[in-house]
Amino acid sequence: MSTPTELLAELISLVTASDKYASISPDLVREIGAKELAKRRNLKEAVKETRNKLHQVGSAFQEKPIPYAAWLEELAQLPVDLQDEQVTATLKRQMGMHASTAERLSILPHFFKDALGSIAPLHSILDLACGLNPLCLPWMPAAADMEYTACDIYADMTGYLNAWFAHFKINGKASVVDLTQSVPSVSVQVALLLKTIPCLDQVDKNAAKRLLQGLYAQYILASFPAHSLGGKSKGMLQNYETRFNQLIEGESWKVTKMEFTGELAFLIEK
Ligand SMILES: C[S@@+](CC[C@H](N)C(=O)[O-])C[C@H]1O[C@@H](n2cnc3c(N)ncnc32)[C@H](O)[C@@H]1O
Repeated sequence: MSTPTELLAELISLVTASDKYASISPDLVREIGAKELAKRRNLKEAVKETRNKLHQVGSAFQEKPIPYAAWLEELAQLPVDLQDEQVTATLKRQMGMHASTAERLSILPHFFKDALGSIAPLHSILDLACGLNPLCLPWMPAAADMEYTACDIYADMTGYLNAWFAHFKINGKASVVDLTQSVPSVSVQVALLLKTIPCLDQVDKNAAKRLLQGLYAQYILASFPAHSLGGKSKGMLQNYETRFNQLIEGESWKVTKMEFTGELAFLIEK
C-alpha cells in the first residue's frame, strides 16, 4: 500500500510524463493532484482529472504545441526595433498561437491605449498569468525605461519570453509562478490580470481575492473573456461582472469598467 506522499509523487510523474504537461509548474500539478487524490476513487481517476483540469486552465489555450525552438531562431534574425514592420508582423503571428492573445489581435491597436492611456506612460508592469501578452508591448503606452515582470505556469513560455526581453533589450523578467499559491511581491505601477480570474477560480475560489488584495500595484487592470473558447457567450458577461463585483466587495477601490470587443475590463485604482 502506497502512502499519500508516494501516491502524489506517482501522480506527478505520470501527469508530467506527457509532453503536453511536462513544462507546467510542478507546484500547480501538486496542488491540483493532491485535491484530486482526495476526491477520486483511485490513482488512475485522479491522474485523469488532474490532466483535465490542467488542460482547462492552460493547454486549452494552446491548440497546437508552440514551436519555441523555431521562434528562438527567428528571434535572432529580427532587427532590435519593436516598431519595425517585420517585428510587429512576427509578434502578431506568434500571438496567434495562444487563443487569448489571438482573440485580442483585432483590438490590439487601441486596447492598451484605451485601457491604460489615463495612467501613461507606464513605468512598470506586472503581467500575471501572462500567456504571450508581453509580446503586446509595442502596442502599450510604455515609457522607454519600462520594467516588465511576467509570470505564467509554463517554463517553456517564460523561457521564450526571457529570450525575447533580452533580444529587444527590455528590462524584463518572466518566471514560473502558480498564482493559486503565491502572490508576487514586486511593487509596480500596474498589474495586468487579463482573462485569468476564471482559470484561478477553477482551482481555488479564494485565489483571485487573495491576489487582488495582496498585490503591491497602484493599478490593476483585470479582464474577462466575452465568450468561451468554443465561441459561446450567452450570459457570460453578466456572470463575470457579478463575479468581479463579489471580488471587490468591501474594498474602497476606485473602479472603471470598460467594454471591448471580446473582453470586459476593469481598471482598479488601489
Ligand atoms: C485565458 S489565458 C490569459 C493569458 C493572458 N493573460 C492574456 O490575456 O492574453 C489564461 C492564462 O493563465 C495561465 N494560468 C492558468 N492557471 C494559472 C495559475 N494557477 N498561475 C499562473 N498562471 C496560470 C495559463 O497558462 C494562461 O496563459
